Amino acid sequence: MNVDSLLVKVKEIIRIYKLLRLPGGKIVSLPSGKGGVGKTVISLHLSAALSQQGYATAVVDMNFALPNLHSYAGELPNKTVTHYLTGLCKLEELEKVNVKIGNSILHVYPSRSIVDLVRKPQIEKIPELLAYLKDKYDYIILDLAPGVSKYSVYPVKLSDCVFVVTADERASYIDATKISKIFEVSGIKISGYIINKYKKRRDSELENVIYRIPINSGVKKFPEIWNRKYLKSKLVKQFTELAEMVIQIC
Ligand SMILES: Nc1ncnc2c1ncn2[C@@H]1O[C@H](COP(=O)(O)OP(=O)(O)OP(=O)(O)O)[C@@H](O)[C@H]1O
Ligand SMILES: [Mg+2]
Repeated sequence: MNVDSLLVKVKEIIRIYKLLRLPGGKIVSLPSGKGGVGKTVISLHLSAALSQQGYATAVVDMNFALPNLHSYAGELPNKTVTHYLTGLCKLEELEKVNVKIGNSILHVYPSRSIVDLVRKPQIEKIPELLAYLKDKYDYIILDLAPGVSKYSVYPVKLSDCVFVVTADERASYIDATKISKIFEVSGIKISGYIINKYKKRRDSELENVIYRIPINSGVKKFPEIWNRKYLKSKLVKQFTELAEMVIQIC
């Protein structure tokens, strides 16, 4: 690498560092090795719990090929995160869905699949997106694609806190350990693990498990379980405890 291109690279790193070190909300990401471990439902319920505790909270669909926050939010706006990242709209035009959580409002930022948009997201636009959201919210929860593509690793690298999600099964634990090693060599610090679909049968050798979420088909009932008559449900209590752990750590 010659001096000029090195200088360009260093300037870019400084620009991103300055953007994301601005005072503002915390970016929390929930990556996983294996798919289907429950990142999306945990992102939603954790965001709901934070919102209910009075924090201005946004949950953002960063699963650009197979997004599904919109199916829980009940609406897919015209100008989504992937519209911004593929150059189809400006940051200020981004549309969010307001989801009622008890007496609070959670902001959901869905994505339209890049398969529909037939465009590649520009990874360099992610820091501006996150800086924009940091300015508006206390917590910004990122719902990521599984695995280690650049589209999931880069947002993790820009996050303030990283909680790796694994299901309570051997294959999932193995991949959680692998992804953690990849993060470690990339200079990403993991704040803890969340074990989902916990069966109370076996525990992993993972250290720093911050919460275990049992199997409960009620997780599909978002946002209904946050409505008044369900306020005392087990799941609400558990996700509230998870949120308290996240607040304490992050
Ligand atoms: N604690 C749980 N108990 C029972 N079912 C669960 C639990 N957590 C998640 N599920 C179910 O597992 C399935 C996968 O969940 P989800 O879509 O949140 O996973 P994901 O990690 O986001 O998947 P992907 O990697 O494809 O994005 C869904 O049907 C969801 O309802
Ligand atoms: Mg998902």
